[in-house]
Formats: sequence, structure tokens, C-alpha cells
Amino acid sequence: PIIYAVTPTYYRPVQKAELTRLSHLFRLVPNLFWVIVEDAEETSALVRNLVNRAGLSNRAVLLHAKTPTDFKLTKKDPHWSKPRGVEQRNEALKWIRKKVKHEPGHAIVYFMDDDNSYSVELFEEMSKIQRSRVGVWPVGLVGAMYVEKPIVENGKVVGFNSMWRPERPFPIDMAGFAISTDLLESNPSAMFSYEVQKGYQESEILRHVTTRDKLQPIASNQILVWHTRTEASKLDNETKLVKKGLPQSDNDMT
Ligand code: UGA
Ligand code: MN
Repeated sequence: PIIYAVTPTYYRPVQKAELTRLSHLFRLVPNLFWVIVEDAEETSALVRNLVNRAGLSNRAVLLHAKTPTDFKLTKKDPHWSKPRGVEQRNEALKWIRKKVKHEPGHAIVYFMDDDNSYSVELFEEMSKIQRSRVGVWPVGLVGAMYVEKPIVENGKVVGFNSMWRPERPFPIDMAGFAISTDLLESNPSAMFSYEVQKGYQESEILRHVTTRDKLQPIASNQILVWHTRTEASKLDNETKLVKKGLPQSDNDMT
């Protein structure tokens, strides 16, 4: 099946590095289709050029959806204080629902942060997700643990090991599941929402499309994705250059 990988992304100094890593991963996974949604008024030349240079222009679509100001993180906000990616993932869902409507078979939707670390093997495993099911698997370095994982007995998910808000309907990270598009078609109201508590985005979409007992365990004893976060780059010396009347250090980079 085709895997629609949905990546919300926004401009900051590390953006190009993050997207370069992802794009080179995508070159190794032929059944991926990249749905990039920029948190901006319009799509950018930076993202477009990067996708073209990676040779992915015929299996990527570039969309945009700006996070409303009330919900946008500011420099002062702690990073977890507002939900991220809501607007962008919903835009992607709209696009995917239209796209798959007239296609035979099912596809798979996976929500990929631009800063996580993904193994190529994850996508081979994810391709085993059955029609009308949600696949779940372990995610490394999240929830203040080495790994958050579904607990699997006799091929069934019987629980989760999460310690952070374990009372959530689905106490898992966004990187730990993918959805058969049949479920998106049969549940047109499934989407993300600003009206949920912190950490409940995953449960919000999943509660519309599945129940715990229907989850399909995938690669249960392997970590194939890590919830890494990139630290913000220090760029103070650029200000010094500008004060001296010199151009920014990257002014001759194409
Ligand atoms: C964790 C989960 O891994 C996210 O999938 C989830 O959306 C988030 O929590 C949440 O609860 O909202 P975390 O690593 O803290 O994520 O979030 P980020 O990686 O900072 O953001 C998730 C995605 O949204 C990234 O792809 C990022 O580029 C994008 N984003 C972030 C925007 O498009 N706009 C922003 O202003 C911030
Ligand atoms: Mn992240």
C-alpha cells in the first residue's frame, strides 16, 4: 500500500536540516507519498526546492495551513503549552480523503513530526497494516522513558506501558501508530482538535476510528522510531556581524 506521510513543518533555522534528513529517508522508501503542510500563509521556495532536489517532486504534495495566532507558540511559551500540528494535519486529512476516494485498495496514513528519527524498517513493518485497522508500535525516548510501547499478548494489544497520563484512551505518541485510510473514509469526523487536553491529540483522532481491542501490533519488540527533539541553534554571532555592517554568514549560499 501507499503510505501517506503527513509532516507539519514551520520555518526556523533547523528546518532545512530536518527536512533534508526526512527527504533522504523517503528516497529509501518507494511506497511513501509525502504530504508536507507548512505552517504559513503560503508554501515556500525552501521546501519546494528541497523536495525537487531530493527527486521527490512526483511523490510529494506541498500544502499550507497557518496555525491561528491564539494557538501559535511564542518564544516565551514552553513548547508543550499549546498543541502543535493540529491545523496542518487536518488540512492533510482533507487532501488525503479526497485523494483516496476513487482509488482501489487501501492506503496508510502516518503522522510524522519533522524532527523525529525514523528507521527505513519502520515503513516495511507499517505496510503490514490491514484494511480498516490501526497499527501500533514502540516509540523510543518519549514520555520520560527509554521506550513507550503497547503490551502485546497472543498477538493482541492488552495495554500500554506509558507512565505519563496513562489514563488517556490511547496513551501513545503520534509517532507510534498509523491508520488504514478505509477508517478515515468510514469515519468522516475523525480529525485533530484544539478542544482537547494536553497530550490528547493522539487519543482524539484514534477514538473516532478504532477501539483498543482492534489495534494491530506491529514490530512489538523493536524500536524503529525515536521521538528526538532538536535543540534551537545559537545564532547570536549573526547579530554581531550585522552590527558591524557585514552580511549574514549564509548570504552567498544557494
Ligand atoms: C509531540 C508529538 O510528537 C507531536 O506529534 C504532537 O503534535 C505534539 O507533541 C503535541 O502534543 O501537539 P513535539 O516533539 O513536542 O511533539 O512537537 P514538535 O515536534 O515541536 O511539533 C510537532 C510537529 O508540528 C512538527 O512536525 C513541527 O514542525 C510542527 N509545528 C510545530 C508546526 O507546524 N508549527 C509550530 O508552530 C510548531
Ligand atoms: Mn517533535
